[in-house]
Amino acid sequence: MPSTSPREHHLAVIPGDGVGPEVNAGAMTVLDAAEATFGFGTHRTVLPLGAEHYLRSGELLTEAHIDLLREQDAIVFGAVGSPRVAPGILERGIILALRGSMAQAINLRPVRLYPGVATPIAGLTPERCDLVVVRENTEGAYVGTGSMVHRGTPAAVATQESITTWYACERAMEFAFALAMQRRRRVTLCHKTNVLVQAGALWLAVLEEVSARYPDVETDYVHVDAMCMHLPVHPERFDVVITDNLFGDIVTDLGAVVQGGLGVAASGNLNLDGTGTSMFEPIHGSAPDIAGQGVANPAGATLSLALCLASLGEAAAATAVEAATVDVLGGLPALAGPEMGRSTEEVAAQIAERVANPTTDPTTAAQPDTASLMTQLAAVMPRG
Ligand code: IPM
Ligand code: MG
Repeated sequence: MPSTSPREHHLAVIPGDGVGPEVNAGAMTVLDAAEATFGFGTHRTVLPLGAEHYLRSGELLTEAHIDLLREQDAIVFGAVGSPRVAPGILERGIILALRGSMAQAINLRPVRLYPGVATPIAGLTPERCDLVVVRENTEGAYVGTGSMVHRGTPAAVATQESITTWYACERAMEFAFALAMQRRRRVTLCHKTNVLVQAGALWLAVLEEVSARYPDVETDYVHVDAMCMHLPVHPERFDVVITDNLFGDIVTDLGAVVQGGLGVAASGNLNLDGTGTSMFEPIHGSAPDIAGQGVANPAGATLSLALCLASLGEAAAATAVEAATVDVLGGLPALAGPEMGRSTEEVAAQIAERVANPTTDPTTAAQPDTASLMTQLAAVMPRG
């Protein structure tokens, strides 16, 4: 994409609503520190998309936004959503519109228990919890097609279609295998092939075809309901999990709980073929209940920033941001809210300070047994 030099990256920043702008400001502080330490630069364009902008102007994601976003190297996203806007409007009009228009083929969601972070799963240790969910990000039940007749009456009938194409499944699957090659070489398909027999058969056929190209990668299959048992109890069973859009949405919230809460979960909506721009967002939403108090944890946003930096080829900076975040997280008495004992800004400042002055070797701090996910990701992300 059109950077002026390989070390000058053009970012669109969408702070959004609720805690979005708070955690995003934290991520920008950390980005400043990473730039100064690792010698790269960013040109940041802030877009006002979100509830406020919608209520004032009636505008969601427009063609002009799309044209501008297409010209960027990455999008850094906070959160959108507000109780003042009916459900579905901002989700479909901004988040899903971004994922679709930017052809963000997959949603990459690491599920990792970091050292020192409390998990509700008794006895779980970081060595046993290090997996990545590759969620197909453009179709399934998210296409939004279907209809309702007799709306508002007891005779109402709704249909909601779920679309599964070979094209989308294959490109997501290919990425899952490429990533697994950098990791522990195991890909698990998560679906519901015993009931969703048509879509399930397509996914299984894609698994079979792509796995033939990767003889060194072991494959596995788990039904999504069984996944809800295995993920918290035996996370070590999984390395890379590939799944459909809706199943991926659901199991990654479970994954976030396993890794200590939504406050620490990060994601990357990745464009894999240069037809759009990748976008990085914490998994948590706008959290209106704690918005405006400065008590949201910026870790989800800074870990998403690390994914962003990895996708831009700034692997060293990405690894440092991840390690600094992990280091600070380990010292927090609670992962979000007033119990965190520090403000969003203070946590972000501590992370930034550790990025500038690493106390531990960033390449080993985050993940004891394997290369940093950031290095793995930098190796598989297409750029150009
Ligand atoms: C997520 C969110 C979104 C989704 C919503 C807000 C549209 O839950 O990113 O997981 O369902 O994908
Ligand atoms: Mg979700």
